[in-house]
Amino acid sequence: MTQLLTIADLKEQAQRKVPKMFFDYADSGSWTEGTYRANESDFQKIKFRQRVAVDMSNRTLATTMIGEDVSMPVAIAPTGLTGMQWADGEILAAQACEEAGVPFTLSTMSICSIEAVAAATTKPFWFQLYVMRDREFAGSLIDRAKAVGCSALVLTLDLQIMGQRHKDIRNGLSTPSGFSLQRIWQLVTRPAWCFRMARSKNKTFGNIVGHAEGVSDMGSLGAWTTEQFDPRLSWDDVAWIKERWGGKLILKGILDPEDAKLAVKTGADAIIVSNHGGRQLDGACSSIEALPEIVEAVGKDIEVHMDGGIRSGQDVLKAVALGAKGVYIGRPFLYGLGAKGKEGVALSLDIIRSEMDVTLALCGKRDIKDVDRMLLKEGTYPTSK
Ligand SMILES: Cc1cc2nc3c(=O)[nH]c(=O)nc-3n(C[C@H](O)[C@H](O)[C@H](O)COP(=O)(O)O)c2cc1C
Repeated sequence: MTQLLTIADLKEQAQRKVPKMFFDYADSGSWTEGTYRANESDFQKIKFRQRVAVDMSNRTLATTMIGEDVSMPVAIAPTGLTGMQWADGEILAAQACEEAGVPFTLSTMSICSIEAVAAATTKPFWFQLYVMRDREFAGSLIDRAKAVGCSALVLTLDLQIMGQRHKDIRNGLSTPSGFSLQRIWQLVTRPAWCFRMARSKNKTFGNIVGHAEGVSDMGSLGAWTTEQFDPRLSWDDVAWIKERWGGKLILKGILDPEDAKLAVKTGADAIIVSNHGGRQLDGACSSIEALPEIVEAVGKDIEVHMDGGIRSGQDVLKAVALGAKGVYIGRPFLYGLGAKGKEGVALSLDIIRSEMDVTLALCGKRDIKDVDRMLLKEGTYPTSK
């Protein structure tokens, strides 16, 4: 393939360059992957209204998310093991976001640490928190994010226990220690990936190894994470996290209007309508299906963001038209990263930006801030009823 024009092109290229176990880690949902697929396919049912003979000059996609200026309403979602798609992946993606004027969210389960990303960037990024049984460790992650100047904390609420992804088990990714012939084969068939990885200092979970007690390498980490994700996490915990953090707080993983109302009560700044990219509760509805009902329930009280299934700038516009102030992309940037490193992340953002711009124009609009349901053909989108 010579030209990379779509997110699907980037995915195909990433598959050729990234060892199978890590490509599959990104391209997987839990159990039947039904919700993972629905996240994408439900976007296809929604149609635009084409409008003509409207002045389409001087268009802008610039807006704000939680009060921060963004060049378009798209942020990068937190994803674990990003530095395994391409060496130093989190640093490269954060730099690409900085250049593109969009927020980057670093996962707790990143390979490059909070401090390493901060040292390689100049603008504040957002940090995503998983709450561990060891509350002091969770607290120390908050303090570290604060210390480097992160401008928002994204608290993930939909992963108290892990959904099962069959591909990870088949690839041996859920048992980090030990080398099998299958794994060695997957690595030797990707020599450029191995070469870059060999030269990188960032090879393990940078936020955890050396910081949490009893975790010194990938092997001990496997056992630690299974034990440590806290199944008792409750709304009461949001209060102490908010207090300890003291800055902008975004609650991630809301899929039900009742939970959205509880989220508003916490005083958080935004919620993310999300099913974790179809990686947790298989059989849950798609994010775009859930969005209108949640906007209807709390849209006046809190900023509503969404993620899941965005594969083009058109999908972003559909979500914005249905009330999202901004969206996050997970796989699209991971595929860009796996295909071409930092350049690939920049390309994924460029593709989405230009698709959004042209679609906005052909729907007869010039400013993303004027987009509402009128952009869409009635009867083709989910409603709150
Ligand atoms: C490979 C991968 C790793 C992820 N790791 C995390 C994580 O560490 N923390 C988190 O809150 N969400 C995580 N997510 C979920 C994303 O933040 C986001 O909700 C999802 O990817 C959005 O769907 P999309 O990939 O279709 O854009 C992960 C998703 C993927 C694909």
